[in-house]
This record gives sequence, structure tokens and C-alpha cells, in this order.
Amino acid sequence: MPLTSLSRSIRGEVAIVTGAASGMGRATAHLFGDEGARVALIDINEEPLQDVVKEMTDAGYDAKGWTLDLSDGDAIAPIIREIGEHFGQIDILVNNAGISMPSPVDGDGYLTAWEKTHAVLLTAHVLTIRAALPFIRKSPHGRIVNIASTEALGATKYGSPYSAAKTGVIGLTRSLAVELGSEGITVNCICPGPIRTGMTAGIPEEHKETYAKRRVALRRYGEPEEVAHGTLSLVLPAAQYITGVALPVDGGLTVRNA
Ligand code: NAI
Repeated sequence: MPLTSLSRSIRGEVAIVTGAASGMGRATAHLFGDEGARVALIDINEEPLQDVVKEMTDAGYDAKGWTLDLSDGDAIAPIIREIGEHFGQIDILVNNAGISMPSPVDGDGYLTAWEKTHAVLLTAHVLTIRAALPFIRKSPHGRIVNIASTEALGATKYGSPYSAAKTGVIGLTRSLAVELGSEGITVNCICPGPIRTGMTAGIPEEHKETYAKRRVALRRYGEPEEVAHGTLSLVLPAAQYITGVALPVDGGLTVRNA
């Protein structure tokens, strides 16, 4: 095989990014747009979603938004089908939308947190994948990336609904990598560490700094774009032999002991 034969471009490919109105989803949608992909953005929050779509179309990217509550399981397949029919194809699916509802295991709201967290972080992934698969199967290089978390590799007090769902995301990723591997479709996940997004915006700056200095090898929080580049590397046509991995993009959080 000649050495530069694998494509490093997603130009013209169609990518779905969920949770694209904020944080890592927004950064991923922008990066894919900048790489020439046609991007379908999904989010529950109509106004910020349309703001991101506008940012992208103003920058000359091909982008369109779909408002969808991913915890409403029945609503997912019709929207994914609509996206596939709108663009005529789906090549890349990034399951990124997420919520965090910390709760002590014996707390009053625990079961609600458990159900909602699993609906958005895990069941929605399965439903988007099931709906997108007929389109992804027709792609010459179908790619699925699920966003898990370092909370699936370690744990934080009161985070059990989140940790359990994110650990499920890794299991789902590995299992589907095996199931879909014979068709050349790759399924991977990213485990972001502490990243500056909407989800962590409420953590005071001094707490962020103390935590990062104590725990992260690079001694700082990450930026959404730094995770987006990890995701991009997994969806390139050239990434065709990478499947079933859980890639930490965590500044070295998971390898630092002291
Ligand atoms: P974010 O809060 O900035 O973005 C999450 C997006 O998901 C928001 O736009 C939100 O509206 C959307 N969303 C939430 N529930 C939804 C629903 N039911 N239907 C449709 N959209 C919905 O947060 P961030 O950090 O960018 O989150 C992206 C992913 O990264 C999530 O899966 C999160 O669990 C994960 N993550 C975040 C880390 C961090 O430090 N920020 C660390 C590890 C993982």
C-alpha cells in the first residue's frame, strides 16, 4: 500500500452532532464545518442552537439545526430520517449531548436523576445510532463517536447516575465496534476530562484552578476545541483501523498519580 493513500479529509461528508448549541458540540460542529463537512446540529435549546447555526453559515459553512429533546425517545428516529433525507446521506454521527444531575444514592431525586441521565446519555445514543444506521451503512467510511467521560474511568461522589451512564457508553461503543466492524463502520468514544463548557461554567474559577493543579498533568482545564480535534481525528477516512477505543482527552488526568 503506498504511504499517502488514505484520505485526511471529511469534505462533503454529512455529520450529525448532538448537543451542538454549546461547549464541545458547538466546537465540534464548527471544526467539522471548517473541514468542509455538511453539519446537522441537534439540540434541545432552540435559540442557542440557531445562534450556532448562524455563526457557522456566516463563516461560510454548510450547517442546519434541528431542535430535539433527546430524552423523548419516540421523537429521535423521525428527525434523524429527516436529516438523512435533507442531505441525502449521513457519514458521521457524534453523540455528544449531555446533562449532569448529581445526587446521593439515597436522595429523594435520585431515581429521577438516574432515569433522565440514562435517557439523554445512553438511550438516546442507541436510538440515534439505530435511526442513522441505514444511512451510515451506505457511506464509504461510516463513523460513530460517542462522548463518554473520565467519570467512566474513575468516579466523583454523588455522580453515580452520570458515571453509570458514561460507563454504559463505553460498553455500547465497544460492543457496536465489534458488531459493525465487518461492515467497515468504526465506533469509538472520547473520554473528556475537565473542560470549560456550559456544564462546568458554575464551578468557581479558583476551584477549577486548584483541581487542575492537583489532578491534571497539564495543570489546567481543557477547551472544547481541544476535544473536538480528538473527535475529528477519529472520524477521518484515514482512521479506518481505529475502532472500539475509549480515548481520554483529559490533559493527563487519568495517568497522574501525584
Ligand atoms: P454543555 O452543557 O456546554 O453542552 C451540552 C449540550 O447538550 C447543551 O447544548 C444542551 O442543551 C444539550 N442537551 C442537554 N440535554 C439535551 C437533550 N435532552 N436533548 C438535546 N440536547 C440536549 O456541556 P459539554 O461539557 O459541552 O457536554 C458535552 C458532552 O461532554 C456531554 O456528553 C458531557 O457529559 C460530556 N463531558 C463533559 C465534560 C466537561 O468537563 N465539560 C467532561 C466529560 C464529559
